[in-house]
Amino acid sequence: MAARSITSLDFTAKKVLVRCDFNVPLDSGRITDPARIDASLETIRYILDHQGSAVLCSHLGRPKERTPELSLKPVAEYLSGALGRKVTLAPDCIGEVTGRMVAALGPGEAILLENLRFHPEEEANDRDFAHELARGKSQYVNDAFGSAHRAHASTVGVTRFIQERAAGFLMLRELEALRAVTENPAHPYVAILGGAKVTDKIGVIRNLMSKVDAILIGGAMAYTFLKARGLPVGLSKVEEEKPIKQNDKQVSPSATARELEALALQKNVALVLPIDHVVAATATADATPEIVNEIPMNRMALDIGPRTVAEFIEQIRRAKTIVWNGPLGFFELPAFAKGTLQVGAAIAELTGVTSLIGGGDTAAALAGQPWANRFTHISTGGGATLEYLEGIELPGVKALEDR
Ligand code: 3PG
Repeated sequence: MAARSITSLDFTAKKVLVRCDFNVPLDSGRITDPARIDASLETIRYILDHQGSAVLCSHLGRPKERTPELSLKPVAEYLSGALGRKVTLAPDCIGEVTGRMVAALGPGEAILLENLRFHPEEEANDRDFAHELARGKSQYVNDAFGSAHRAHASTVGVTRFIQERAAGFLMLRELEALRAVTENPAHPYVAILGGAKVTDKIGVIRNLMSKVDAILIGGAMAYTFLKARGLPVGLSKVEEEKPIKQNDKQVSPSATARELEALALQKNVALVLPIDHVVAATATADATPEIVNEIPMNRMALDIGPRTVAEFIEQIRRAKTIVWNGPLGFFELPAFAKGTLQVGAAIAELTGVTSLIGGGDTAAALAGQPWANRFTHISTGGGATLEYLEGIELPGVKALEDR
């Protein structure tokens, strides 16, 4: 059963608890990328324009207690500007003072509750905390796709106490985009995976093996694969050979990499690893990049090389469906962002292709490029997208369904 749409609720004179994912990057209290806030504006405006009172809530960072630097104050200020109406920040997400502020809220007015994670009960999905959070609200809209893989009080627990609930526009768009690449995707289907750890992506790689035609691997993760093949990786970041638990077995990252390569052979999936590299002595802005086919002992690989980019682009040009999660190099430094940007530009050029870009770092790496709006969808949720692609049911979505 699918979650109800926000358009099915009548918000007139109702207090609506709206879970958003305002977990935005901050630099000295300044929001450096408001994309996640912008992505939920449509939902918030809709509720306000339909005479609802929006009680907005979110987490920010991973505090274990009240941490002033992780206050949602900058978000409240940004929202006030973006919505063109004052969005007051409540001093807490629960409690008497906040309760009174919520009760005083009129139709078409919005308030933002302070960081949910100032209470450890949020992540513990504590029943009493969820009850408090739900108090005084008769409707619940979840637009926090980025947190849909978390079974927390604000994403799951509150739904025990608020019967009228629905998915916001952002949540609906994200789920639609994921469905398009998982239910009968057009072939050839190419997955591009980057990022640091193989062990973070085992589940997703395994699940994609029975769906895709090719998996292109870049980022630091690629060097764990190359090392497992016995190839030199120099000073490149490879995953520590610490055993990880998998189906009750202890396996090392390199054994996992070898197992995934064997699985690819068995499933007839092309597992494409870098064949050349952009290396440097250090991962710093003053480093001198060099292109090599084999990584020297005293160098670290920080990006895929031009021959690898060409190989990736050849696979991409054949594709009808593309999913991408994880940058292909150390994109934070322009000298090592080329691989990620050239692959991004090649996807953006395609027509008649469904392309889904996972959130987090991948979206950040491509943000600001003139072609960044040419993908079918750029997700606001990295972790949630990965879990969905792994075949895991997202608890925040399940909780929206009628019971
Ligand atoms: C994210 O940034 O991926 C989401 O906001 C979830 O945050 P979390 O990983 O701290 O739960």
